Amino acid sequence: MNIKVITVDGPASSGKSSVSKEISKILGYVYFNTGLVYRAIGFLKAKNIDFFEAIKENRLFFELLIGQTKVIFENEDITQELTKEYIGALASEVAKEPSLREKVIVFQRSLVKKNAVVEGRDAGTHIFKDATIKFFIDADPKERALRRYLEEKSSYEDILNAILKRDETDKNRKDYPFRPAEDAIKIDSTCMTKEEVINLCMDYIKKVL
Ligand code: C5P
Repeated sequence: MNIKVITVDGPASSGKSSVSKEISKILGYVYFNTGLVYRAIGFLKAKNIDFFEAIKENRLFFELLIGQTKVIFENEDITQELTKEYIGALASEVAKEPSLREKVIVFQRSLVKKNAVVEGRDAGTHIFKDATIKFFIDADPKERALRRYLEEKSSYEDILNAILKRDETDKNRKDYPFRPAEDAIKIDSTCMTKEEVINLCMDYIKKVL
């Protein structure tokens, strides 16, 4: 691989997005949130629109920028809408389909043309198996629900249940079950601040780059 790819995988609300965005800014690499692809598929499916058709017809675009991934649908930035938890649940359902995943992985790979920080569930296991460095960031489900609650301010119990259900669906799907890559550096962020996780990742990155 000529370009450098840093993968950051982990479960819902593990802090992987904020950590990936920050690493992308520090290194000047573009940031790719691969979950946004499954979220866009779920979002469009609810409107009876086929994702790959929309891409082909140039109605849907993904922009990989430093510290930001943007999703544009029919000239409108839908990135913020896609981050909502109800879209996460739709995404987790569509992500179970193995034939769809195969096409999605090829599509995700094709978007990365520059040095990038790529975050998701299978960035290190499938999308970029030969990534320069791989991280897997985890945290206790209750801590993850609390972090999400502080962002969304909806019911803590509902968030915890939604997170547990998504963990279950992602880990138990028949094909492409969600697992850390064997060669990933595993970080349990339960008792760590975001800054501590970033610093730890940067210490590893500096040794490799
Ligand atoms: O990371 P995020 O929470 O945005 O992902 C939404 C859903 O998309 C996940 O629950 C998972 O089912 C799916 N996903 C995936 N593989 C990825 C990224 C996300 O299966 N690389």
